[in-house]
Amino acid sequence: MPEWLNALPKAELHLHLEGSLEPELLFALAERNQIALPWADVETLRAAYAFNNLQEFLDLYYAGANVLRTEQDFYDLTWAYLQRCKAQNVIHVEPFFDPQTHTDRGIPFEVVLRGIQQALRDGEQQLGISHGLILSFLRHLPEEEAFKTLEQAMPFRDAFIGVGLDSSEKGFPPRLFERVFAKARSEGLHAVAHAGEEGPPEYIWEALDLLKIKRIDHGVRAIEDERLMQRIIDEQIPLTVCPLSNIKLCVFEHMGQHNILEMLERGVKVTVNSDDPAYFGGYVGENFAALHEHLGMTEAQAKRLAQNSLDARLA
Ligand code: HPA
Ligand code: ZN
Repeated sequence: MPEWLNALPKAELHLHLEGSLEPELLFALAERNQIALPWADVETLRAAYAFNNLQEFLDLYYAGANVLRTEQDFYDLTWAYLQRCKAQNVIHVEPFFDPQTHTDRGIPFEVVLRGIQQALRDGEQQLGISHGLILSFLRHLPEEEAFKTLEQAMPFRDAFIGVGLDSSEKGFPPRLFERVFAKARSEGLHAVAHAGEEGPPEYIWEALDLLKIKRIDHGVRAIEDERLMQRIIDEQIPLTVCPLSNIKLCVFEHMGQHNILEMLERGVKVTVNSDDPAYFGGYVGENFAALHEHLGMTEAQAKRLAQNSLDARLA
């Protein structure tokens, strides 16, 4: 990666902590927790990182998360991510975590949260990286389950800046979560949601109008709807775009076809993020490098993208 890209101060606003679980750490945690894995070794697991769509990835992502059991595991996961950030001049992070992925396996909510929180605090003190944590609801599960998760989170209200919506997008439109998002907002939490990754522009409209989100996660399909484009430009609604993720999950066929720079030039407040870096081939730095290599991103464009990420912070 060119040094000038690495040196740019950046914020990461779209990162699933469970998606930063590198195969080496996954194997180490499996051994520590005495869990038998379906993959022979790290290389076999890495070779399985070939996806045709979001669902194929999610199946592996949830399987991988099964090795996370103790507070220490969640600490180690988060700490490893923050060290990567430090190396790439990511100075602020607003990561997601998926409580239901863990509570549904019998891991107490507070075990997950304490490990993540302690690492974030250490990151602030020892690495100088500021943060705001986002609790994400799994949209393939009913809204009632999201309500239960929000209830579990409320004793720890101050640990979060907001709520998000992730997992399988198609067939699970934002409107299904209107009430739980209203409840979260009434508690003073910000709202963000994945929309327009695989799902249609209509899902982005719903996320804006019904969930009243502050940022759109992905949102690359907004470009199919001119009226929507005008709205997100006029209102300067940030998009947390994840270029390498979009290629790995076949949202675009090649990086050369990605629309992030076209959006940037049209005045959309786009940012660069890694989504699930352990699975998609890189962290924020590698995502910037891919735009430079395949789309001819200039230094001026890189600076605007990095500044957008700092401007779009919620914490
Ligand atoms: N999309 C939806 N849900 C997710 C993703 C994603 O890219 N990564 C982790 N959960
Ligand atoms: Zn995501």
